[in-house]
Amino acid sequence: MCGIVGYIGKRDTQSVLIEGLKKLEYRGYDSAGIAVYTNNGLKITKATGRLANLEHKLEDAPLVGSAGIGHTRWATHGKPSDVNSHPHTDHSKKFSVVHNGIVENYLELKDELISQGYEFVSETDTEVISHLLAREYNGDIVAAVQKAISYMRGAFALGVLTEYEPEKLVAVRQASPLVIGIGDGENFIGSDIPALLNYTRKVYILNDGEMAVLTKDAVELMTIEGNFISREMINVDWDAVTAEKGGFAHFMLKEIHEQPKAYRDTMLGRIDESGRRIVLPDLHLTEDKIRSINNVHIVACGTAYHAGLVGGSVIERLVRIPVMYDVASEYRYRSPLITPETLVIVVSQSGETADTLAALREAQANGAHVLAITNVVGSSIARDADDVINTLAGPEIAVASTKAYTSQLIAFYLFSLYLAQVRGTQTADEIAHIIAAMHALPEQVESMLANVDAIKAYAEHIAKHEDLFFIGRGLDYAVAMEGSLKLKEISYIHSEAYAAGELKHGTLALIEEGIPVIALATQESVLEKTVSNIKEVKARGADVLALTHEEHVAGLLKSVDQAFAIPKTLPILTPALSVVPLQLLAYYASLARGNDVDKPRNLAKSVTVE
Ligand code: F6R
Repeated sequence: MCGIVGYIGKRDTQSVLIEGLKKLEYRGYDSAGIAVYTNNGLKITKATGRLANLEHKLEDAPLVGSAGIGHTRWATHGKPSDVNSHPHTDHSKKFSVVHNGIVENYLELKDELISQGYEFVSETDTEVISHLLAREYNGDIVAAVQKAISYMRGAFALGVLTEYEPEKLVAVRQASPLVIGIGDGENFIGSDIPALLNYTRKVYILNDGEMAVLTKDAVELMTIEGNFISREMINVDWDAVTAEKGGFAHFMLKEIHEQPKAYRDTMLGRIDESGRRIVLPDLHLTEDKIRSINNVHIVACGTAYHAGLVGGSVIERLVRIPVMYDVASEYRYRSPLITPETLVIVVSQSGETADTLAALREAQANGAHVLAITNVVGSSIARDADDVINTLAGPEIAVASTKAYTSQLIAFYLFSLYLAQVRGTQTADEIAHIIAAMHALPEQVESMLANVDAIKAYAEHIAKHEDLFFIGRGLDYAVAMEGSLKLKEISYIHSEAYAAGELKHGTLALIEEGIPVIALATQESVLEKTVSNIKEVKARGADVLALTHEEHVAGLLKSVDQAFAIPKTLPILTPALSVVPLQLLAYYASLARGNDVDKPRNLAKSVTVE
């Protein structure tokens, strides 16, 4: 949801900003722009559409200067257009601002500013900030920023430049992410760490309600009220190339192939050497507290929610604690019954999803202990939660989540086993048996990835259709939901995931001759019942593909048109395998339809508005 960068120093500012924005394009790509302090004052160039459009404009008229800010936009207020693109400025063109987030009271502020004679050119909430800066400036940009934000409500990360004090770049964080990069004779701001990695590995992470004043030689950190603060500098040891495509045609394909490594990394150090016990030393949850939990709420959005559906079912099976599930945007509004004995698990790849963060706060306000499963260390959710299990999937760039989802499954398996270990609901042998099966998962994924021809051919077949159904029971249904979301979001094929037994209560009316139905049939305990449901759709003309274990392929082929084999593992672990062909199916179907796989229309990687 919008990415911002800023630079002050001796390099070619324009290229630093563009390189940073390239790393942030996943956060939004409706339009992009930069403002640079040049010999002729503050100059702004912006362009609707992808960053490449901005680059073309800048080729003809480069902006040369010593400080600048940049923005890549995912529209919230005002349609994507040049005028609505950031950076925004005021009527004097002396101030420039980039913003990620939403100014909730912007209409109120806009009316006030208009009544005072300020003229607006865009439909955005951000433009109020540039006019507020102009109104409040009295020779000190830091004071003007502090004054301006004192009028604003909402979520914002800001980068601010003024022609009056070109040696300063001001950054603010209020509920939208922002990091500061430290260089030698140069300093940076960015919405996330990968945006800075080409230039520096030394960063400060700003907290909510904090700001930074950057010059080329120094960074001052303070609260937005102006109290100076000191902060430990973090040395980032990520490999910059992990954020690149590494030879794959798309980030999504690269990330699908990174899953075996992500599984191994997420398990690393969390299983003791004997392979019989889970060790989660960083958890603050005491064993007594674990024993006192009497219900679990799992709250997340989209793909992370689907991982929660699998995770919750595993907790119920292994630990026998009741679990409730909510999409985060609904959780707060249904007055959930939360007590100090409720464990709330929030799941978020980015750690910045506004709805999930709000759910976390609701849970904490009601006395629950909140455990976050996130993929971004230092993200807002990771910092605010009482406990965190980091998935070690590495940066996920493609908008469609793949390795983050499967790493979330691994985190849930580890945590469920840990709960079972502490509460004694599984024997040591049972736990060791599940751990051994988990260790085999990475190689099993590798074997599926080495053999994608059949799935690719099937993807090319479904790419010609406009409607499709996924069906399954139990954990197969949870995976069907994820497969359906993945297909929808990147291929734009309409699909629905149904609990196989529920079809006959209405949706069966939509099954007609030739409609593709993908039936997940991996769960032994409900296999016969799933086969009955497959027969119901087959009898109405559906073209059925089954995903099942090798031993059932021959039997199922009597009822379906095609069957793909999933390597054999324990039923509770099967989702970590069965989702992989569905990710590939979505990928190849999107490719066959000529879509932009990594950047599907209307979507953004990180959704920081409610
Ligand atoms: C789909 C997808 C989204 C995210 C959702 C939550 O592929 O990526 O559905 O899962 O927006 O995002 P996080 O996990 O960052 O909270």
